Amino acid sequence: MSKSITVYSPASIGNIGPGFDVLGLAVTGLGDKVIAREISDDKIIIEDIRNADHDISKNPAKNTMGIAADSVRKKLSTKTGVALTLIKGLPSGSGLGSSAASAAAGAFAVNALFDGGLSPEDLIHNAMEGEAFVSGGYFADNVAPSLLGGATLTQSLNPLIITALGSIHALHIILVTPKIQILTKDSRAVLPESIPMKAFIRNLANTASITAAFTNNDYTLLKDNLQDDAIEPHRSKLIPGFYNAKEAAINAGANGLCISGAGPTVFAITNKEEQRDKIASAIVGAFHQEDIEAVATLSRVDKQGTRQI
Ligand code: HSE
Repeated sequence: MSKSITVYSPASIGNIGPGFDVLGLAVTGLGDKVIAREISDDKIIIEDIRNADHDISKNPAKNTMGIAADSVRKKLSTKTGVALTLIKGLPSGSGLGSSAASAAAGAFAVNALFDGGLSPEDLIHNAMEGEAFVSGGYFADNVAPSLLGGATLTQSLNPLIITALGSIHALHIILVTPKIQILTKDSRAVLPESIPMKAFIRNLANTASITAAFTNNDYTLLKDNLQDDAIEPHRSKLIPGFYNAKEAAINAGANGLCISGAGPTVFAITNKEEQRDKIASAIVGAFHQEDIEAVATLSRVDKQGTRQI
């Protein structure tokens, strides 16, 4: 029988508030799975896609998982082919790194199937190729945490320099996804060419503090710095009820609420486990007031990243 493996890749929060395109965080509770199986044909095929909430191409050259998987297969110079099955656990266009998780799982699966010896760090390049195809941008703040787990910092894209920052033990994350779809490319298109110096300085200070928070496993350095003065004022216009949701979350005890990635998912933070339900209801309620359904997921940091299951 041909060899087959299954891989899980977690959802991720791009930006972690002010860290636009540089900070990312893997989270528990939602993720994609990929089953990879050896075949004799010298190519990648996608044999099945399950649980997808929209049409995803089964053409490997037009599919984020397929592109990432093929890129690893070429790197390994193998003539054995791979049949892939994608099991979606993530809603698309939700700001939770859906395409990145598929790409990370595809890249990881092919390497694991052939005992390729590539590290998760090596695979970031391959996964980014897949993600760039659908997201209209080249950034690593979803694929890096999805592959490595915990929080990550992208220092440079060319050459690619990523640092794993670690986790914060006390951190509880409340993800709320309103039922509207925002494509990353559209959410990037609303951003201005320049930002005011004041917003730049605040974002810089907050990003530095959040980086220190994860490297030191220190919630106090995170809790007052989850504020984005540069990107949020523009992207929030795409999310009806965003500022009401933020206010409701903070009134319910959250230490902050920001847009996850390109949106529309928002995430709030607390270090008090017993407050999570109240915060989740407050945010969901704020979206209901706009006649928008919303789904909450109580989450934590996924420290492991992409893995074989
Ligand atoms: N950093 C990217 C953005 C992440 O915010 O556009 C997309 O999920």
